Amino acid sequence: MLPAYLPNPVAALSGGGTPVDFGRNYADGRRIFGDGKTWRGLIFGILAGVGIGIIQIQAAGAFGLGFIPGLTLLSVILLATGALLGDLIKSFFKRRFGKERGAKWPIADQYDLVAGAFLLLLVFDTGWLFGEVTLPAFIIILILTPILHRAVNIIGYVIKVKEVPW
Ligand code: CTP
Ligand code: MG
Repeated sequence: MLPAYLPNPVAALSGGGTPVDFGRNYADGRRIFGDGKTWRGLIFGILAGVGIGIIQIQAAGAFGLGFIPGLTLLSVILLATGALLGDLIKSFFKRRFGKERGAKWPIADQYDLVAGAFLLLLVFDTGWLFGEVTLPAFIIILILTPILHRAVNIIGYVIKVKEVPW
């Protein structure tokens, strides 16, 4: 799951500059995505996720880690891209519900990356998803994700990369 987990913190570290929605509003008069979603965060976040995935593929080959789910270049790209697309779409709906940038939205804030990553895999690499992500693995992901999410966001808040600890 590293290719899906890394993009968010890297986006927080590298984000800033031009927002994905170029500052434009939606029909409801609110921002489409808001200033928390930038091109720099999106691009560097996805590159970091794909990068760590490629390193994992190389490491698995070099050390014969055959028991670890077999990441492929396609699955890595879908995990990383899906994670931040999920985050972006979550922000779209957050704005539609009138929640300001950085507002808390339990469940959605924690699972957007998992939903986005698995949805892309379901559409573009169905065989990999059902072949590699077993039911126990999926349950561990559901338990681990909110814990990791909270821990990393508290670190981000303390080192002043994030404005809120969630
Ligand atoms: N970030 C970014 N580009 C992205 C995603 C995140 O630049 N595509 C950066 C922003 O600086 C953002 C920070 O990472 O403030 C933390 O991300 P997140 O918590 O997802 O954004 P929020 O500011 O909380 O905005 P939202 O309410 O839309 O979730
Ligand atoms: Mg947020």
